[in-house]
Amino acid sequence: MRFQERAVIVTGGSKGIGEGCSRVFCREGAMVSILARGEEAGMKLAAELNNKGPGRAVFIPCDVGDHQQLRKAIEATVQTFGRLDCIVNNAGQHPPAMSLDETTVEFMQELMRINYISTFAGARYALPHLRKTRGTIVNISSMTAVLGQDKSSAYCATKGAQVSLTKALAKELGPEGIRVNAILPSNIDTPLMRDWAATLDDPESALERVSAMQVFGRMGTIEEMGEVALFLASDESSFITGQAIEAEGGASLDY
Ligand SMILES: NC(=O)c1ccc[n+]([C@@H]2O[C@H](COP(=O)([O-])OP(=O)(O)OC[C@H]3O[C@@H](n4cnc5c(N)ncnc54)[C@H](O)[C@@H]3O)[C@@H](O)[C@H]2O)c1
Repeated sequence: MRFQERAVIVTGGSKGIGEGCSRVFCREGAMVSILARGEEAGMKLAAELNNKGPGRAVFIPCDVGDHQQLRKAIEATVQTFGRLDCIVNNAGQHPPAMSLDETTVEFMQELMRINYISTFAGARYALPHLRKTRGTIVNISSMTAVLGQDKSSAYCATKGAQVSLTKALAKELGPEGIRVNAILPSNIDTPLMRDWAATLDDPESALERVSAMQVFGRMGTIEEMGEVALFLASDESSFITGQAIEAEGGASLDY
């Protein structure tokens, strides 16, 4: 029960890595606020978590690309749970592969809004509440932030921005007892990953290829990412801040 009586917001918390975070935090007794767009998946997961316990969950519909919606959802969470101990800025999108020639400036701006401005806004609007609990911020970035990725300049840039923000905020907020860290996953088996594979000619062999990139010969699970988020949110990581934790199953080794 490592997060008992504490409250966490997970953006995009109804599917994929966000779902893994919601499940792991709830297992540890947390009050979990699932912020996501899809009403059906969000309500379903919240109901399941409330049945299972020992923590509890609420679903608050929210498009994180609209930062006023995000601000209101953060306020609604604090009204419901009376406190906020962590925000996991997870919601994000990975567009299909596209060259720089194919990527318009407008597209870059739009992806920045969804993947990065939402992270900035999440931190910004959660801050007054995190000050009261000496809470934490966990940003879900990507290994592509440091390794790059073919035909993914827009996506990589949004993920890199999250890492820079993490380090700057850790320095700024550390004196107030607020820790800020990022998780950089490699290949995780999520709907995003499977949707991406479906855009390719041979989805099955694409999934085999990305599985083989990790030294374990498999993708990471959403729960494994949830465990890292829980560690970074809990007192067990009390001396860790400003770090970009590479949760990548050895994918970057032996280049
Ligand atoms: N899956 C991977 O291999 C992988 C690797 C590295 C980084 N990531 C990062 O992890 C995060 C989650 O990815 P995932 O694979 O779990 O994705 P996913 O698509 O499987 O799930 C993402 C969740 O976020 C929600 N979401 C997306 N846009 C949103 C918006 N505008 N407002 C509210 N909710 C929104 C989706 O509805 C969904 O619930 C992303 O930031 C992604 O960049 C994923």
